[in-house]
Amino acid sequence: MTCGCNLKERWETSRDDDNLDWNRLKTVLERYHNQPGSLIAVLQETQSIYGYLPLKALFIIARELKIKPSKVYGAATFYTQFRFKPVGKHLILLCQGTACHVNGADRIATALCEELKIEIGDTTADGMFTLDTAACLGCCSLAPVMMIDGQAYGPLTPDKARAVIKAIYSTELAAGRDGEPA
Ligand code: FES
Repeated sequence: MTCGCNLKERWETSRDDDNLDWNRLKTVLERYHNQPGSLIAVLQETQSIYGYLPLKALFIIARELKIKPSKVYGAATFYTQFRFKPVGKHLILLCQGTACHVNGADRIATALCEELKIEIGDTTADGMFTLDTAACLGCCSLAPVMMIDGQAYGPLTPDKARAVIKAIYSTELAAGRDGEPA
């Protein structure tokens, strides 16, 4: 999502958001009702509910906060913290800060892309992982570092990064087997 043109048309023709529970957003909006300057807080809570900002949510927020949709969209796209595509079960944030960059973050990125068979910003076909980048994650002593579901891993080598991914996949597979009926 890089352009705000034809927002309404894109929302109306999109089926991506059809199955989401909008009551959860309604609860957030009721809490921020009549609170000027609450747009960013509402966007943050919306993302924490759905894992990203669905296009339809931007229209609902605009309507309820009485702000033009283009303004809501402009605010959402201004901040890098907001995502516009659904994320996988596990969100990988690969640090691109200075300490990580000089310690080989690019090699880690290459290893992760190869291991997951996706590009940065994408989600694996099975919906298990989303790979994204972030500015300094605040644990530079671990550089190069990645964070998965809030847990930091570092200092990484390409092999260590691959091993972390494999370990999570193994855990998921084991959990899937345990969940199968005997
Ligand atoms: S630069 Fe990567 S954690 Fe600070």
